[in-house]
Amino acid sequence: MDKRLLDYLQRILNARVYDVAIETPLEIAEKLSGRLENRVWLKREDTQPVHSFKLRGAYNKMVHLSPSELARGVICASAGNHAQGVALSARHLGCQAVVVMPVTTPELKSDAVRALGGQVVLYGDSYSDAYEHALTLQKQSDFVFVHPFDDPDVIAGQGTVGMEILRQHQHPIHAVFVAIGGGGLISGVAAYIKAVRPEIKVVGVQMIDSDAMLQAVRAGNPVPLSDVGLFSDGTAVKRVSDETFRLTQELVDDFVTVDTDAVCAAIKDAFEDTRSILEPAGAMGIAGMKQYVSQHHLRGEELVAITCGANMNFDRLRFVAERAEVGDQREALFAVTIPETRGSFKRLCETIGGRNVTEFSYRISDHREAQVLVGLAIADRGEAATIRDALAQQRFAALDLVDDDLSKEHLRYMVGGRSPRSENERLYRFEFPERPGALMRFLSRMHPDWNISLFHYRNQGADYGRILVGIQVPNDDLPVFDNFLASLGYPYVDETENPVYHLFLR
Ligand SMILES: Cc1ncc(COP(=O)(O)O)c(C=O)c1O
Repeated sequence: MDKRLLDYLQRILNARVYDVAIETPLEIAEKLSGRLENRVWLKREDTQPVHSFKLRGAYNKMVHLSPSELARGVICASAGNHAQGVALSARHLGCQAVVVMPVTTPELKSDAVRALGGQVVLYGDSYSDAYEHALTLQKQSDFVFVHPFDDPDVIAGQGTVGMEILRQHQHPIHAVFVAIGGGGLISGVAAYIKAVRPEIKVVGVQMIDSDAMLQAVRAGNPVPLSDVGLFSDGTAVKRVSDETFRLTQELVDDFVTVDTDAVCAAIKDAFEDTRSILEPAGAMGIAGMKQYVSQHHLRGEELVAITCGANMNFDRLRFVAERAEVGDQREALFAVTIPETRGSFKRLCETIGGRNVTEFSYRISDHREAQVLVGLAIADRGEAATIRDALAQQRFAALDLVDDDLSKEHLRYMVGGRSPRSENERLYRFEFPERPGALMRFLSRMHPDWNISLFHYRNQGADYGRILVGIQVPNDDLPVFDNFLASLGYPYVDETENPVYHLFLR
């Protein structure tokens, strides 16, 4: 065996992590296994005391410091999880810990460091800025620097995750999927696996907009990136280290990149199987596994994803839930053009049929045609094509927006606005029961002379669908219209006199 690999194997076997870390379970993910037609195992590092694997490396580094070094105190730069590992280890070892975090760090993570007794310094926009500042502080105050990934003791501590996986799963494993930031976790895990069971593939997963390791492997040496995406803050690293690059290049079999929507879908997958919520970096292994399975047409294999962190800010959940369905190709999003004639809106709804509508936005604009933003629940991407064909048969042109960030990030919230064609319009907020057919019932009971001039619905997971409808009703018809509203049995509020309606929509 290569001497350096042997050295890492020894370091991992001798690593001291269990004073603070636990041996996390390796759990079968039944639902995901069924969906992917492979046996999927999750290495639950999100269940560690600080909700990530990071305390393993930090503690293994710090427990090897001399008493005089510990007396000087430690300093680190971290986007969050390493910081918690360092703070917890410092508390256990009775030393001072200063943590420099980028100002963009989720509050959940900085609060957790403070709660563990760490002293937090917020500095810069990225991990790299925080790192430079930590180096300056270290020189000024003679602290010992604890690097989040560029240190053999840190790498060896993270490698204990690989050691546990092989001990916990002694049957064949096809591949282990590991998120990469600076590369400490994958270096340690790959070192152990390649030393002990080299036939197991180690696959690295990176965010498509934060792929410093992949670029380093392609270039043959670490390359600094000028900018990295921050959605997965745990892996937003601009430059990997020489040591993690060397180990990764030598030992890692393959790489996949994943995007934000795929990670949101993976967070949902993990939730469905475990009822736990992972942070984006923590779900990258699952997202990468799903992509790899589809690229390589894998069936019936044993696959392991390390779910490496769960320090998620609660307000992020809104975004994750919004994008998870699209990321899993379980939601289609279209801009559909329909002729602006009576009944065409109803015809569009009939074409969509009994499908589960997730979004529906429309505003009357000109006298010829209208654009409707339509979101639909689908079983797979192929179904989106079937729907488009069905719409085309009705001469409704449909633009597929599932990969269009402008639509997903902004446009879906902006459809509407004032219309010069909104004469005689009345505005109502309805509660429709969340079941297929509720909208068709509404439309088929409407008098053919009344026109829907505005419609807005977005499935937000509530028990009732909150729907905003603008209807053009001639004044003479108002008594009949009131009867129609009463007969529907759907609770509603008349918003026609609401000043906001007049400010933004009328
Ligand atoms: C949850 C989570 N996953 C993955 C990583 C990436 O680890 P590494 O920098 O060792 O590649 C980190 C790093 O902080 C993390 O916090």
